[in-house]
Amino acid sequence: MKPIPLSMIPRTRSKTPFKDQKTLIHGGDYNPEQWLSVNPQILQEDMELMQKTGINSVTIGVFSWSALEPSEGKFDFSWMDRVMDQQARLGNRVILSTPTAAIPAWLAEKYPEVRRVDPRGYRPPMTNRQHHCWTSPIFRQRVRIINTQLAERYGHHPALSMWHVSNELCGQCFCELCRRSWSEWLEKRFGSLQAMNEAHWACFWSKQATEWRHAEPTCGYSDGLLLNWLRFCNDQYAQWYQFESDILRRITPSIPITTNFMSTVYGIDYQSLAKVVDVVADDQYPNYDPQHPRYLEAVPYWSLKQDLYRCMKPGHTFMLMESCPGVMQSRTPMKVKRPNIHRLEMLQAIAHGADGTCYFQFRAGRGGMEKMHGAVVEHWGTQRHFQTRRFRELRELSDTYEKIKPILGTSICPQVALIYDSQSSWAQQLTPGLGIDNPPRNTNLREIRYYDAVATEYYEPFWRHGIPVDVIPNDRNLSAYRIVVLPMHWIMTPDFARRLREYVHQGGILIATWDTAMADEHNRMLVGGWPGEGLTDVFGGWIEEVDRVGNGVPIAIDGLPGSGSEIATLMHTNGVEVLARFAQDFYRGMPAVTRFRCGSGQAYYVGTRLNQQARQALFEMILRESSCHIPFQDPLPEGVTVQWRGVCETLFAFAMNFSSQPHQIGLGSFKLTDVETRTIYENCLPLGPLQARVFEVS
Ligand code: GAL
Repeated sequence: MKPIPLSMIPRTRSKTPFKDQKTLIHGGDYNPEQWLSVNPQILQEDMELMQKTGINSVTIGVFSWSALEPSEGKFDFSWMDRVMDQQARLGNRVILSTPTAAIPAWLAEKYPEVRRVDPRGYRPPMTNRQHHCWTSPIFRQRVRIINTQLAERYGHHPALSMWHVSNELCGQCFCELCRRSWSEWLEKRFGSLQAMNEAHWACFWSKQATEWRHAEPTCGYSDGLLLNWLRFCNDQYAQWYQFESDILRRITPSIPITTNFMSTVYGIDYQSLAKVVDVVADDQYPNYDPQHPRYLEAVPYWSLKQDLYRCMKPGHTFMLMESCPGVMQSRTPMKVKRPNIHRLEMLQAIAHGADGTCYFQFRAGRGGMEKMHGAVVEHWGTQRHFQTRRFRELRELSDTYEKIKPILGTSICPQVALIYDSQSSWAQQLTPGLGIDNPPRNTNLREIRYYDAVATEYYEPFWRHGIPVDVIPNDRNLSAYRIVVLPMHWIMTPDFARRLREYVHQGGILIATWDTAMADEHNRMLVGGWPGEGLTDVFGGWIEEVDRVGNGVPIAIDGLPGSGSEIATLMHTNGVEVLARFAQDFYRGMPAVTRFRCGSGQAYYVGTRLNQQARQALFEMILRESSCHIPFQDPLPEGVTVQWRGVCETLFAFAMNFSSQPHQIGLGSFKLTDVETRTIYENCLPLGPLQARVFEVS
């Protein structure tokens, strides 16, 4: 391996989630109100359990409205007072949630308008949670009262460290109030009905609106309209968050506020929502199962997801607000978490910039729909806790967190960026016929959506070389990056096209896949040749037809080892280097993978879904020819990666082996000191099966 100087891995200091944070957060949702009437000793018992397990933070109150306000205007904070005091005595930090994600029965019954209406116009009498209307003035009134009470009562409590607004903001409401606000949103966005009709291509199927309310979000005549409806819903989430947080901020201006995201999901643009939160926090449930045949395929997706979260709020680290230390009740079969997996999963998040990880939840309830969801303390009870594998694993993790705390607030400045665009993925999914599915590809592992799977395929080659990657939205400055990867960036705006063109002209390396720059922001096809918005000049070709042969169907190619699949993009080219050609069907001989030298840079176009072998070969070539710093010249063994964090002269390496085989990693000129054992490694680093280790690099 060619040595690379440490200065080649630039690093930076970022803000931690808590103010004056001295250690990694190791916390969890805590719902003692479910227990207090049956076991009044529970707070005392839990104090000891938390202390000995190393739990230093709790999130309370998430769904506690009916325990705090059992009937309208009658409040009972006595239990919460005790929990706050208990946590202060422990020296723990409290993330205090507003209870608004679940509506008490009295409220749902007395004020029907607070309940959501479904697309068929039906307003169920009650649903489980996350079911309030986004617009209802009465609901806002009730929320203002309970949030104000919480902020006034606990604003100066020594344990209060962060606010947590609601829970996993999501879902849609089709009531008259929300529909009115949709009409207003459209009017603001388009100014005239004509502009809206054109954007939604409403002449199709005779749907031209003569009133704003005619833009019907439950009817699939315009995928552009449905895309805008999703954007409207995202604005509702952001406004809701701002409404709740304004109440808190006025009373407690110095307490950071967050809400919990859900990794990557269809229909929610977390990169935009990140702009309104103080702290980026994720609920992460990969359900890693090393015995699953596709497990190793899923692992780099979760690294990509962490890098997406690291980049959401520049200058800030992020945290995991929820994770599961045991079995997941929402997955079938309910396999227990294998030994070592939890540590690996948590250190994977820390390796990519998280400054803490928390659980759902601290103590499992006895009833309800999640009674069997793995928790820190399960039904084995208080007495037996210290005999469990759960306790040993979490105690060891706490010890590791204590020893690696110098990594707090450290980060990294990569030379590679991958542009992640949720809205392109929604637009593709809304477009009939593309075959962009939501169904699970990895049964029992957490489902990985098609767009995410493709993005991961273009992230993984860097991951295998220990090359850090920023995963960023398309409005960021690209000039600092040597390589920019653009997987399936379906929507292209004139502004982004201009910035991509400048980036390549000025010497950047751009790697785009099929289905890039196909539609405008309203999901209307771009005209005049794809890749649209003039990017044909950047890639040196234009696409005549796209043959979509079906998910998983291989397509033969020449020029690279391995094969393509699923898509054949049939391109007219001019002056490009053809790196691979199609080797089947009537398009045999047409370019499949091309490189065009444009200005001082290069633009690659990948017109088919390459398999791993072909992708690896292509990336080896691109990396060799780029001036990108490559920590490990040869790809690391399958399932192994090294990620970095640091600041000034200090650099940390996280070496992680997700595979069930032991591996030896060649270290070249790196000298690694194990942060926990102080063992020094030169030349070669042994990594056991499913092992994660943290090193100081010198
Ligand atoms: C999360 C949710 C938690 C809990 C958990 C169980 O999505 O925020 O309240 O339901 O899932 O997996």
